[in-house]
Amino acid sequence: MRNYAMGRFLLVLRKMAATTIRLSSYLCCLLLIVQVHSVNRDNFKTCEQSGFCKRHRSLQPGQSPYKVLMDSLKISSSQISVQLLNTKTNVRLVLDLYGLQGNTARLKINELEPLKPRYEIPMGDVLVGEPKQQDLKVLDKGSESLTLGLEDNKIVLTFSPFRVDFVAGEEPVVSINAQGLLKFEHFRKKPGWVDKLTSVFSWFIPPFREAPAEDAAPGEPAEGEEKKEEENKEEEKKPEQEEEPMLWEETFKSFHDPKPNGPSSVGIDVSFPGFENVYGIPEHADSMALKTTKDTDPYRLFNLDVFEYELYNPMALYGSVPVMWAHNEKSTVGIYWNNAAETWIDISSTTADKNFFSKIADLVKGNSEMAQMDTHWFSESGVIDIFIMLGPRPKDVFKQYAALTGSTELPPLFAISYHQCRWNYNDQDDVKNVDANMDMYDIPYDVIWLDIEHTDGKRYFTWDAHKFPSSKDMLNGVAVKGRKMVTIVDPHLKRDDNYKVYADAKSRDMMVKGGGGEEYEGWCWPGSSSWPDFTNPEVRNWWASKFQYSEYDGSTPDLYIWNDMNEPSVFNGPEITFHKDVQHYGGVENRDVHNLYGFYVQKATAEGILMRSNNEQRPFVLTRAFFAGSQRFGAVWTGDNMGEWSHLKVSNPMLLTLNLAGITFSGADVGGFFRNPDSELQTRWYQTGAFQPFFRAHAHIDTKRREPYLLPEENMKIVREAIRKRYSYLPFWYTLFYHGYRSGETVMSPLWVTYPEDKSTFQMDDEYLLGSSLLVKPITEQGAVGTNVYFPGSNEVWYDIETYQSYAGSQSTYINAPLEKIPVFQRGGSIVPRKMRVRRSSSLMVSDPFTLVICLDKQGEALGDLYADDYKSYAYRRGEYIHRVFSFKNNILQSSNADPNGRGASREWVEKLVIVGYPKAATSVHITVDGNSQSLHHSYDSSSRVLTVRKPDVNITKDFSITIQ
Ligand code: NOJ
Repeated sequence: MRNYAMGRFLLVLRKMAATTIRLSSYLCCLLLIVQVHSVNRDNFKTCEQSGFCKRHRSLQPGQSPYKVLMDSLKISSSQISVQLLNTKTNVRLVLDLYGLQGNTARLKINELEPLKPRYEIPMGDVLVGEPKQQDLKVLDKGSESLTLGLEDNKIVLTFSPFRVDFVAGEEPVVSINAQGLLKFEHFRKKPGWVDKLTSVFSWFIPPFREAPAEDAAPGEPAEGEEKKEEENKEEEKKPEQEEEPMLWEETFKSFHDPKPNGPSSVGIDVSFPGFENVYGIPEHADSMALKTTKDTDPYRLFNLDVFEYELYNPMALYGSVPVMWAHNEKSTVGIYWNNAAETWIDISSTTADKNFFSKIADLVKGNSEMAQMDTHWFSESGVIDIFIMLGPRPKDVFKQYAALTGSTELPPLFAISYHQCRWNYNDQDDVKNVDANMDMYDIPYDVIWLDIEHTDGKRYFTWDAHKFPSSKDMLNGVAVKGRKMVTIVDPHLKRDDNYKVYADAKSRDMMVKGGGGEEYEGWCWPGSSSWPDFTNPEVRNWWASKFQYSEYDGSTPDLYIWNDMNEPSVFNGPEITFHKDVQHYGGVENRDVHNLYGFYVQKATAEGILMRSNNEQRPFVLTRAFFAGSQRFGAVWTGDNMGEWSHLKVSNPMLLTLNLAGITFSGADVGGFFRNPDSELQTRWYQTGAFQPFFRAHAHIDTKRREPYLLPEENMKIVREAIRKRYSYLPFWYTLFYHGYRSGETVMSPLWVTYPEDKSTFQMDDEYLLGSSLLVKPITEQGAVGTNVYFPGSNEVWYDIETYQSYAGSQSTYINAPLEKIPVFQRGGSIVPRKMRVRRSSSLMVSDPFTLVICLDKQGEALGDLYADDYKSYAYRRGEYIHRVFSFKNNILQSSNADPNGRGASREWVEKLVIVGYPKAATSVHITVDGNSQSLHHSYDSSSRVLTVRKPDVNITKDFSITIQ
């Protein structure tokens, strides 16, 4: 544990570092070493140390005090509204239930008469707009329940105790408050000493009036039923403080949280009957299938900067996406918990209550037990706002979620290519050398990154004048090879009145405020810092304007941005972040919006990058902190991992989970951030990264230099090959991102997304699919020379992408994988576009020709597509793109237009077909374009069963057919 004195010492050292430019990087490096090895779990709260977590976790199922007040029911075409009564306290809540388009429902619970409005995320920020409503039909209204119809689903509202069940077809799939864990801490007045005295008295003297119980406001008349009163008497006699810990203030280590609004948490249980697996709720360094939390803390969602994070536990990390999926052979459903406050989620597995369900659904007959996952969600403040997405297929739920929070914006091509980063490239010469070496060793890369040391004393938007005297020359130097640069811009501003960004923000009163209303001050890289209030739209506009070329001196159109430390990280704050009572725009506490701060930083930055090109060029912004909807603004990486095998391995489940939560453009630091990975680990990490969506090598300032050309020659060649392979697949990746953008689909997918009925894949997170065409099983074990690969699909055949050896589906096979081998397989029945002329950067390849790799299924057929545009601007929104569909059937390859709205021109053409799994040599091959036929060169390799057709040389925008005889 880093104690307070040590903390102060570090801060003083940091301050010294900031004042001495020449010493600064050395000291920072020293500080980081101290910091890295001194931070541990003790800096972060356990559930036991968090008042509201403790209060919600201690609730017992089956004791719900809530019932529906049917007299208050209001029904309109797509919404019902009804009051809920807490029979213990008499406090009333209001429940709104909406039908939404696309098999989705929304359930909101708020106080009927709050003392003041409770925080709700502004419309348009996370939710892309007011969700479109869908009619709810009243199917049945009895004395115990109300049944509504929503498309093919039923929603059953049971009155007492209150619960809501969602039945898809005939299967119950989601139950809300079935365990009765709804707890809604209404705003209340802080008890004065008279109330406290009364409360204490009531403990000794038999109550002459009801003592405050559970979430009762002190002094409130407690009517309640008599019998219940009798039952609860013993409990009620206790003073409130004893049964409801930490209601009005709490302390963690030396940090006091005065909680000016008192308790305000909300929570409820959500069960998934019929399911054994749930997924989602990043970010945790954990398996893809979520674990039960019986013996651990609940999964925590609270954006935090956790140094040297541990693996396989539910501790919070940098980002939070409160979305969860449940999947079984028959359906996929999920919920999105629309709340930006600190949230915990308990998970347990149990069996469903068949008695109850047989009343509301025609359950499949039989006595077998039905599995169920129970989850319990609680947030420190806000309202209960749950979106229930009813699938029924995996791709449906992704679409439903994307309709709410948006899909991943189509990245520019350079962004999905290889990125070379390190903390730090020291000066312009260093950048030049790395750039030259990458060329000398023939290793393609698109972007070189500059970390915090490039600035003038950690003042973002500035350059260290000694190390980077002419940034524009440097930028132009890489740009001539089609490359880009990224600089880091963190949200903390050095409190230096001569720093113009800070002075400007200060003069406009744009900083977040401390609990007392003063400009909040904390410590980060520059020493004493303040933070602009990104929750304020005006502040975001102001921030965005700082990226104008006139404002950001030395920047050019080839410069893009990296937002780090935006949880935010506050070195001397509680849990290394803001105090909970920090005040934001509109008098909102950080307690309410904490998990959204980083989201807003990235949003404002992306808007800035967009604005500087008059909304013409696509931005690229990498962020560490994120929330639901962050996918709209750029990429996410998994923060400070370690150069260890275990961290390479966990990158796959972590990225799969991010993909499931809509953050499809995500990656992990290749090589690992901390430590010095050996050359085997680096090699395997590059091979893995080459097949993950965001592909960037990065390293801590204290590590040995490890640009890929510094590896021993054997490893360097293998790494070069892996990076080149990434480049050869860029057309395929780009098409995948296009699909994700259009439909919200995952880019890196668990196998069950494509094979939803295959139970053996439900917990598989060490192999995955890219789209539905490439199966990837990265090697993540030290010394491994092979691995068991599971090939899904009983009817499928899979082909090794290098040897074209075939493997039958629905079985596991041991695959040899010596160091140079990446086990990747293409599905028979798919057509994958590649570019085999790999150059120094992706933009030098934009006019190069395609090779179509056609892997045949058992019927000798295959299908695939290709999306292309100018790879960088928004011209595609005006129809300047092409989307082709390729189909191979009856020995004919057809290329046709997949989308008549795509009217783009292209200089790219098709130079080769590789037809894999073809049974025999061809006698002749002809291409027909515009009614003209021409014969083509071809050759056949009988050992690999590959027919190669050369030089069709047809422009990609043309309809054509190639016939094999
Ligand atoms: C923390 C980030 O996670 C890391 O990637 C970066 O290098 C350092 N901050 C310094 O900016």
